[in-house]
Amino acid sequence: MSRVAVPEEAHLERQLRPRSFDEYVGQAEAVASLRVSVEAAKLRREGVDHVLLYGPPGLGKTTLAGILANEMGTSFVTTSGPAIERGADLMGILTNLGERDVLFIDEVHRLPRAVEELLYPAMEDFAVNFVIDKGLHARALKYALRPFTLVAATTRPGMLSAPLRERFGIFHHLDFYAEAELARIVTRSASILETRIDPAGAREIARRSRGTPRIVNRLLRRVRDYAQVSGDGVITEAIAHDALDREGVDVRGLDRLDRRFLVAIVERYGGGPVGIEAVAATINDEAETLAEMVEPYLLKIGFIVRTPSGRRVTREAYLHLGKQPPATGPGQAGLFE
Ligand SMILES: Nc1ncnc2c1ncn2[C@@H]1O[C@H](COP(=O)(O)OP(=O)(O)OP(=O)(O)O)[C@@H](O)[C@H]1O
Ligand SMILES: [Mg+2]
Repeated sequence: MSRVAVPEEAHLERQLRPRSFDEYVGQAEAVASLRVSVEAAKLRREGVDHVLLYGPPGLGKTTLAGILANEMGTSFVTTSGPAIERGADLMGILTNLGERDVLFIDEVHRLPRAVEELLYPAMEDFAVNFVIDKGLHARALKYALRPFTLVAATTRPGMLSAPLRERFGIFHHLDFYAEAELARIVTRSASILETRIDPAGAREIARRSRGTPRIVNRLLRRVRDYAQVSGDGVITEAIAHDALDREGVDVRGLDRLDRRFLVAIVERYGGGPVGIEAVAATINDEAETLAEMVEPYLLKIGFIVRTPSGRRVTREAYLHLGKQPPATGPGQAGLFE
């Protein structure tokens, strides 16, 4: 099962993507602070300081970066860490940027080291240094860039090098969304898609969306199909409930991969602690996928805890899975928190 966007979904995401701060739901602190940065930058006729956005996939990092450019009234140029293979690729991008444009680098933790080093002077002095000729005739040249704003996004802030991290002036951590915020997002999306949804239907989809706008929009599409085929097209609580049960999305929003992950720890490792690599091998998935897409939400809702010796499934997760938690006998007190 994949959580990567398919082309059809990519189109839908563009359609539903908010374009201004006003349309962007939630993340109140980040939005308030970026609004101030944009206003101040406009008054000074400067670019906004470089911004680092981090947090789990699908929470709106790319969206927020695009909004920043819209609100600045400048161009939005996007690329990603793995897409920039050589220094020359980055030079091409940087030298084409206009005054105060926003350059968005997704998955910035995957920038090759040589490219990253080229980025340092670009961020600091709006200049790139390069060497022409070889040997005796080698000369270092400095090429001035127009002032720009780098907005970088990462799901793995811990993997960023210190020198790169230090060159950002603004940091925002995007966190999972509250149910009420997701209900607002799904209601807005339904209206863009011209689908009728009642408030209880919106809440039901929101509750099962793992705190994630991308997922709420994806589930909306599934429920909309079901409402058309099995109902009169209106999304009610009952329709949402049935449709999501069929999709394998349970009442806490866990999907098949989440449950496979938990069940593997419970059945193969006695509930843990166990290392992520071992679980990945057991369920035949990649450790990176589990670390980025599965674990953060399970940690957030307290279904697993991290310990120095690995991940452990909590009592609450056992109960959710309908499994008997291990007895907390003498000497085992505190096993579950
Ligand atoms: N705050 C928000 N309000 C309304 N819709 C949102 C919000 N944030 C995200 N979305 C919706 O969710 C979709 C996914 O958001 P986005 O692509 O910005 O996530 P991301 O954090 O960049 O994810 P990834 O780490 O996978 O790149 C967007 O297309 C948009 O429709
Ligand atoms: Mg993104």
